Amino acid sequence: MEDKLKGEAMDLQHGALFLKTHKIVADKDYSVTANSKVVVVTAGARQQEGESRLNLVQRNVNIFKFIIPNIVKYSPNCILLVVSNPVDILTYVAWKLSGFPRHRVIGSGTNLDSARFRHLMGEKFHLHPSSCHGWIIGEHGDSSVAVWSGVNIAGVSLQNLNPNMGADGDRENWKDMHKKVVDGAYEVIKLKGYTSWAIGMSVADLVESIIKNLHKVHPVSTLIQGMHGVKDEVFLSIPCVLGNSGLTDVVHMTLKPEEEKQLVKSAETLWGVQKELTL
Ligand SMILES: NC(=O)c1ccc[n+]([C@@H]2O[C@H](COP(=O)([O-])OP(=O)(O)OC[C@H]3O[C@@H](n4cnc5c(N)ncnc54)[C@H](O)[C@@H]3O)[C@@H](O)[C@H]2O)c1
Repeated sequence: MEDKLKGEAMDLQHGALFLKTHKIVADKDYSVTANSKVVVVTAGARQQEGESRLNLVQRNVNIFKFIIPNIVKYSPNCILLVVSNPVDILTYVAWKLSGFPRHRVIGSGTNLDSARFRHLMGEKFHLHPSSCHGWIIGEHGDSSVAVWSGVNIAGVSLQNLNPNMGADGDRENWKDMHKKVVDGAYEVIKLKGYTSWAIGMSVADLVESIIKNLHKVHPVSTLIQGMHGVKDEVFLSIPCVLGNSGLTDVVHMTLKPEEEKQLVKSAETLWGVQKELTL
């Protein structure tokens, strides 16, 4: 869609005065991307109302077969940050197609889900989300896992105050807050047709950590095989350290057997889809 691409580029260029860069280019010729440090891949079909992320997979794999080799050709040393859905599977696909080492292929994963959770927590306690700590890990989407043991404000564990947190019969109904996170995208899509602001801001945050070598910890999608009982070659989100060489370390969370079981289940679902793909 060359005209749309031109239009988007012009619109952004008109805003260059307000940005810290004047170099905004757009082209269907991939050579304009040459020597990029980070390449964010957002191309692809998006969910229709009521459509699951997993349903998009084959359409987007076919698009990736064209895009990824072109990116690699012009920026062989870049860090690939995949946003297109289903993001965990497409990060695996990008990893396979690129031939890059695993630390240079990252999926935006549950960075957004965790932001949604922290926003809802902030609403509950009338606090800024940055003061509300909680990690949503696993699949970006329907089978994500809320790690209740880590939810805290100023180091005060909320699970210590409410041992029933996240379970059925919990008087505060935290399970419902996690459900709102899972349903969040569907809700926004129903109301405005697509999601854009929060994912845009959350990806900008990831890119900042990489470019500025901040070594911040983010929940992003990485090859999780061999961790938390996962045997399949799949990408899922866990807390990861991001810097200018990509994903430098992972934080091994202390998870409950039930939480690990959920991760293994997500992994098996994703692998079930992945093994059918023709790459
Ligand atoms: N990971 C997340 O948290 C998250 C959040 C929001 C959206 N998404 C995903 O991001 C993707 C894009 O969503 P959107 O709302 O921006 O959709 P969109 O339809 O607005 O944009 C997709 C773009 O991809 C382009 N495209 C399609 N085929 C292409 C190709 N072969 N080469 C280059 N470009 C191509 C289209 O021209 C279009 O501009 C979807 O897969 C969506 O599900 C992910």
